[in-house]
Amino acid sequence: MSPKTEIESLREQLHRHAHAYYVLDTPTVPDAEYDKLFQRLELLEREFPLLLSKDSPTQRVGGGLLDAFSQVKHAVPMLSIRTETDTESSGAKNFDARIRKELKLTESDTAVEYVAELKFDGLAMSLRYDDGVLVQAATRGDGETGEDVTHNVRTIYQIPLKLKVPPKREGGSEAVGGDLFTVQPELVEDSSTIEVRGEVYMRRDDFETLNERQRVKIAAGQKGEKTFVNPRNAAAGAVRQLDSKIAADRPLSFFAYSVAQGLPDSVTTHSQTLAQLKAWGFPVSSDARVCQGADELVQFHADMASKRDALPFDIDGVVYKVNSLASQLELGFVSREPRWAVAHKYPAQEQMTTVLAIDVQVGRTGKLTPVAKLEAVFVGGVTVTNATLHNEDEARRKDVRVTDTVIVRRAGDVIPEVVGVVMNKRMQDAQIFSIPTHCPVCGSVAVREEGETDTRCTGGLICGAQRKQAIEHFAHKRAVYIDGLGEKLIEQMVDADIIKSLPDLYRLGLANIVALERMAEKSAQNVLAAIEKSKHTTLPRFLFGLGIRHVGESTAKAFAKHFGNIDAIMNATAEELQQVPDVGPVVATSLRSFFDVPYNREVVEQLRACGLTWEEGEGTPTAPQMLAGKTFVLTGTLPTLERDEAKEMIEAAGGKVTGSVSKKTHYVVAGAEAGSKLDKARELGVVVLDEDALLKMLDSKDFE
Ligand code: IVH
Repeated sequence: MSPKTEIESLREQLHRHAHAYYVLDTPTVPDAEYDKLFQRLELLEREFPLLLSKDSPTQRVGGGLLDAFSQVKHAVPMLSIRTETDTESSGAKNFDARIRKELKLTESDTAVEYVAELKFDGLAMSLRYDDGVLVQAATRGDGETGEDVTHNVRTIYQIPLKLKVPPKREGGSEAVGGDLFTVQPELVEDSSTIEVRGEVYMRRDDFETLNERQRVKIAAGQKGEKTFVNPRNAAAGAVRQLDSKIAADRPLSFFAYSVAQGLPDSVTTHSQTLAQLKAWGFPVSSDARVCQGADELVQFHADMASKRDALPFDIDGVVYKVNSLASQLELGFVSREPRWAVAHKYPAQEQMTTVLAIDVQVGRTGKLTPVAKLEAVFVGGVTVTNATLHNEDEARRKDVRVTDTVIVRRAGDVIPEVVGVVMNKRMQDAQIFSIPTHCPVCGSVAVREEGETDTRCTGGLICGAQRKQAIEHFAHKRAVYIDGLGEKLIEQMVDADIIKSLPDLYRLGLANIVALERMAEKSAQNVLAAIEKSKHTTLPRFLFGLGIRHVGESTAKAFAKHFGNIDAIMNATAEELQQVPDVGPVVATSLRSFFDVPYNREVVEQLRACGLTWEEGEGTPTAPQMLAGKTFVLTGTLPTLERDEAKEMIEAAGGKVTGSVSKKTHYVVAGAEAGSKLDKARELGVVVLDEDALLKMLDSKDFE
């Protein structure tokens, strides 16, 4: 491709994406992708200056206008900031070196003073106040002309309709040292125009609530409603609503970060500007810091990187600004960007990739989980190749199809998720995904009971997937416990067809085990010894080990205590089962239908015949009470445990599970699509665990 053709193609793509992003509020690519194209174009234009043209996206800011809003010519253009894409410390160092060079500073000169701020991920807004009263709010538009969105912005509570007039102080203001906000701000001059710039954004918890509400509307069949891909997208949509009632319904927030017009003369630094904004009544982020030289900028970058996930809103980087306004003036601008500021981005938490397949996995209780297999993509610090679609409804809601281009998000330690499909990239023949009618592992019929979200394989222990997991569960430390019989070994045994059922475990001989790949005789003997040892167990462990749905450790214990022996449990009616404390119809029915299947009764008989014995009655406690006194909240979908399983496990170890997060909560266990509870936990500084961490915690002490 010739440079000319490539440049033209890049411009065409960038124009299209910018239009979708700025005008239509429906981004077609993640920011990182846009930045990549933009930088490539900048590079080519630098290399071939003759090919530069006025209509290149590099020569202006953003896109066009929606017809429905009246236009506002900005008194002072709304510019953009140069982006430093280096994700390491060199970004700050390069910037400082450039500033020092421009200001003609030598090595003997002291460090340049900067203000480091967060780069909020929302949309830029210019607010004009005449005589201290909000008269106009405008979007950035193309930087020269924006859209009048006053009626919508007036609904944002964080934006003052009238400026607070701070008390006048003798002697004006002093330059500030480390503390940004100690300066005494100036009184607003009479009949002045003040123009404040800042970012309108949506908090993550507000975003979750909004999307939940949207889902309810969609479910109720309301036309024209949709969910939003991310908080920025939702904020942009709200600001650009033609009906301000709708805008008012969408919770927006605001941070002020600069004054374009009307700054009192006594304000001579950017940190004083922030103090002035605060005094006028604007929200100003408390995460702004005066920094001396590059090293302190690097430190800020690192500090905010570790704080990023705990913030209640999205940021995509930090911004460094020269603090002295006189130096800012001296440094000036280059086309669309000031020389005195730079944005230093963080690795993207969203990336675009392709769906190669949608696999359906089968869990221990037969649950079918659709999983999107993705073209490997580096996002949020890890390479992602899978994203769960949870269940049929969720897969439908997202309408992810094989061959689709999707946006994948991974923030913090939360498992990656598909946040949306890039619709205009969908292939015409892309097939709607539907959950299979038969189990992909054993071919048994898969059913979804009324009122349930999950579809399950009905094959029980006939199903290879369920068999492996059933054996794993049986052999688990908390159940019948066969030391050393882990996932890999079980998989090998099932695949080699030497175990078709639980009792087969007790029929294994040394030869069977040694025949497995990479199995030394000594290890095989150890496994056999562990199997032998497991023959002496307790009734609660045995019952729990059978892996009956809804029968977790503490329920198994309760049954054992109440009935005293396995035959009484197997033969009890659903009503009798419900006599057990805390046992309701769901658990009772589940246990009853399990023992109604002759195969399952046969398994119990055969295990007994193989020499399994247990103390009748309550037996020894199934777990030490190591979580006694600890309160947990579960949120989101955990990768392998179901919600009530996790609850059972915590309770069995003496912990308590409650529904809402408060200061008294000790741990929040978060899975995919964790929402406001997770935000609350972070706000309150409650320790957040993932499933792995929870399991480790439960496993941390041997319980024999
Ligand atoms: S200052 C002349 N400060 O980033 C510089 N911008 O590409 C004016 N942004 O459109 C911008 N956080 O919407 C500035 N702390 C911050 C910011 C910030 C986010 C956005 C802003 C602007 C874009 C710059």
